[in-house]
Amino acid sequence: MYLNAFEMNCAGFQSHALWRHPEDNTPGYKSIDYWIHLAKLLEKGRFDAVFLADVLGVYDVYQGSRDPAIVNGVQVPANDPAFVIPVMASVTKHLGFGLTASTTHEHPYTFARKMSTLDHLTNGRIGWNVVTSYLNSAAKNIGLAQQTSHDERYARAEEYMEVVYKLWETSWEEDAVVVNKEKGIYTDPSKVHDIDHDGKYFSVPGNHLCEPSPQRTPVIFQAGASSKGRKFAANHAELVFISSTSAEKTKNIVAAFRQEIVQSGRPADDVKVIAAITPITAPTTEEAQAKYEYYKRYISRDGAFALVGGWTGVDLSKVDPDEKVEYIENDAMRSILKGFAGMTPNEIADEVALGGLGPVIVGDPYQIADELEYWMDYADVDGFNIVYSITPGSFEDFVELVVPVLQERGLVRKEYEEGTFRKKLFGNDQLTKSHPAKQVGRAIVTS
Ligand SMILES: Cc1cc2nc3c(=O)[nH]c(=O)nc-3n(C[C@H](O)[C@H](O)[C@H](O)COP(=O)(O)O)c2cc1C
Repeated sequence: MYLNAFEMNCAGFQSHALWRHPEDNTPGYKSIDYWIHLAKLLEKGRFDAVFLADVLGVYDVYQGSRDPAIVNGVQVPANDPAFVIPVMASVTKHLGFGLTASTTHEHPYTFARKMSTLDHLTNGRIGWNVVTSYLNSAAKNIGLAQQTSHDERYARAEEYMEVVYKLWETSWEEDAVVVNKEKGIYTDPSKVHDIDHDGKYFSVPGNHLCEPSPQRTPVIFQAGASSKGRKFAANHAELVFISSTSAEKTKNIVAAFRQEIVQSGRPADDVKVIAAITPITAPTTEEAQAKYEYYKRYISRDGAFALVGGWTGVDLSKVDPDEKVEYIENDAMRSILKGFAGMTPNEIADEVALGGLGPVIVGDPYQIADELEYWMDYADVDGFNIVYSITPGSFEDFVELVVPVLQERGLVRKEYEEGTFRKKLFGNDQLTKSHPAKQVGRAIVTS
């Protein structure tokens, strides 16, 4: 069972506004101690990775204002996620890191360097959640009049991938760096290549600045679920996130997605599919239920509406709370708005306020383990994005109570395997030939 901790370097992530809970330590996100504690805890629980979401703007669609998001701490204030990775890597040996970065707002040349640096520093434990972004507020602050249209963002993302693959995979040959002290040669220039990229969106003539890192290309995560997003994920992703309310819906999404992977020319098991889930657990069912009721006392409906406004581009303050929402085509997250069509704002708030889009499961550790096992068998998912209600308490509960049960059932490792993030997942440090990253530009043979 693949286990990912779903996190963000910000105030409130998916459960709004649970930071008011007496045992929650959300404000700790600014401190090194918070991330050190989390990393050690997750490695103790034999998690595969901590995933760091990110957005570059505020959620200002609901009520036409940023205030509901700011008051409720809805993903704002938000710090840069990249900097906490070396902190966590320094106190762990195996935990992987998924960093979210947007193909719409960051230049591929500088971004490729940042990821290679992190892959070196973590000894090959880096993943990248490729997003195309959805907030107008982010686009405007980066100098665009408004957000690039949904489909064009994916067209740009395709070219972005080509650029970074060329930089990571083809620019430096494996044995370019020789550090020959007698001859005075640090790097053999004949083994460092310009990528000569001249496309519609990017022009990158030169070479990558970094020498090859353990994985070269980081493990690719993706979560786009519109038709364009799914196709993009089928082409590029190694880990795909799914957020759906029920095992039944998830089963259909996973089956369709696995077909799409094969149609894109890759073996179905090249990609692992991960479902978001919010577990609430305690030693007994009654205690878990009581905990759930206690959490619900702190939920903010305005916080949930603020989040949904940013996700979907739709201001639910303009819709009667008991009127059904209709799907409209816009430039925000199409897949999420489609999922909400036919629900009323009140139903949407109930769905999202605790744990975001995935289901909340409440029970003793055996009941939680049963439910996770059921999802794996029935819906054919490979693992879970564990969403917290309070931090770090929800992760502590999961690691202390649920992981031992999963380990007893042989579903979670007792000891880590050696090697990079990709090696632990797929058995190889670098991408294999079936992946498009290995098909760009100059072919380099690596082991
Ligand atoms: C589980 C999940 C996590 C996501 N995390 C982020 C994120 O951290 N930052 C971001 O900008 N977009 C995030 N997204 C948005 C998607 O990656 C994608 O850009 C968005 O869904 C729009 O594409 P679509 O219309 O194809 O769904 C996430 C989506 C899902 C379903």
